[in-house]
Amino acid sequence: MELPKKILLLGSGELGKEFVISSKRLGCYVIACDNYPDAPAQQVADEREVFDMLDATALKNVVAKHNPDLIVPEIESIRTEVLLDFESEGIQVVPSAKAVNYTMNRDRIRDLVAEELLIRTAKYGYAESEKECLEVARSIAYPLVMKPVMSSSGKGQSLVKSEENLKGAWDYARSGMRGDRERVILEEYINFEYEITLLTIRQKAGPTLFCSPIVHRQERGDYQESWQPAEMNEARLKESQDIAEKVTTQLGGAGLFGVEFFITKDEVIFSELSPRPHDTGMVTLVSQNLSEFDLHIRSILGLPIPEIVINKPSASHVVLAEKEGRSPTYIGVEAALSIPGVDVRIFGKKTSRLNRRMAVCLATADTVNQAREKVAKAAKLIRLTYE
Ligand SMILES: Nc1ncnc2c1ncn2[C@@H]1O[C@H](COP(=O)(O)OP(=O)(O)OP(=O)(O)O)[C@@H](O)[C@H]1O
Ligand SMILES: [Mg+2]
Repeated sequence: MELPKKILLLGSGELGKEFVISSKRLGCYVIACDNYPDAPAQQVADEREVFDMLDATALKNVVAKHNPDLIVPEIESIRTEVLLDFESEGIQVVPSAKAVNYTMNRDRIRDLVAEELLIRTAKYGYAESEKECLEVARSIAYPLVMKPVMSSSGKGQSLVKSEENLKGAWDYARSGMRGDRERVILEEYINFEYEITLLTIRQKAGPTLFCSPIVHRQERGDYQESWQPAEMNEARLKESQDIAEKVTTQLGGAGLFGVEFFITKDEVIFSELSPRPHDTGMVTLVSQNLSEFDLHIRSILGLPIPEIVINKPSASHVVLAEKEGRSPTYIGVEAALSIPGVDVRIFGKKTSRLNRRMAVCLATADTVNQAREKVAKAAKLIRLTYE
């Protein structure tokens, strides 16, 4: 294999930005795409393209213009069908066009996992109208979770406690939907002890590898803090690894996946999967010898990954915007960085809206609890201000 390779990155958020940095360290040439200019990954890439990635013609034109060796999706809103064409033309789609197509919406991957692979998930059903919601909800029982099949970061997601809340949840889901399909998934509410992301790496040559599980806490369906390592029973861990390997083998290709599980008193329940670095995995920027972004680029290029080790117990905590605004500036970063072991990543987003993720605090410590305390304190110290 010869380096450097030319990478077309589809989606240029904070995860894309770290991926570009890891790729640049291996000398790759990166063109970062998004539908708005100056997105985080574009600020560190070699070139940028601003266009609607759901537009097949626009996407084909950009691919023809740059002729990349690899196409690396960072988001779900892409005209994914055309990725199959690119793959058959010999461009490496990461991790594979099949994986990206199956995980673009919640329904396809869920049906594959639950119905074809017979893996335990929350009981679920789909609905395309308020009336169908009512029928499906009756077959699942309350409380339940409603999510648009096309959405991420908790958008349009709500907990439905009883039938009276169903209409409100349907209207809310419709408002948070991406794309043109008015379809929701209704899921049994799982009262888990904790939830994890198991970063799973499929290699071109070599066995599937796993990072130590990352535990995380979510609010409004969106990640708030994550930490590593987890105190997880060996049998549970093995069970989650087996499931992750089974699902990612079906999806094929090479790259890092974020496989999410709910861990209850007696069960390991598959939740969902991202065929790319995961937001809760930002903790690996400080916890491991190779971050999830380093692992992604190494695995997609077919480079060796002889070991993945945790250097120290670590945690991450998001910094969210409190309101809508333009050109934010950050105060309190000095105070946050004066805490030993703390580091900060400011994503460089030019606009904010309520609860938009703008930065992340990272920390290492002697114990996970100490690391969590440090990042919580650091995140609280950072404030956004506007002109
Ligand atoms: N069936 C469920 N029972 C209990 N909690 C749930 C259920 N489904 C989702 N949640 C909670 O909501 C969070 C977000 O849900 P999910 O991962 O399905 O959506 P998402 O919008 O794709 O999130 P992200 O893109 O940030 O991973 C989960 O991590 C979990 O905390
Ligand atoms: Mg999730």
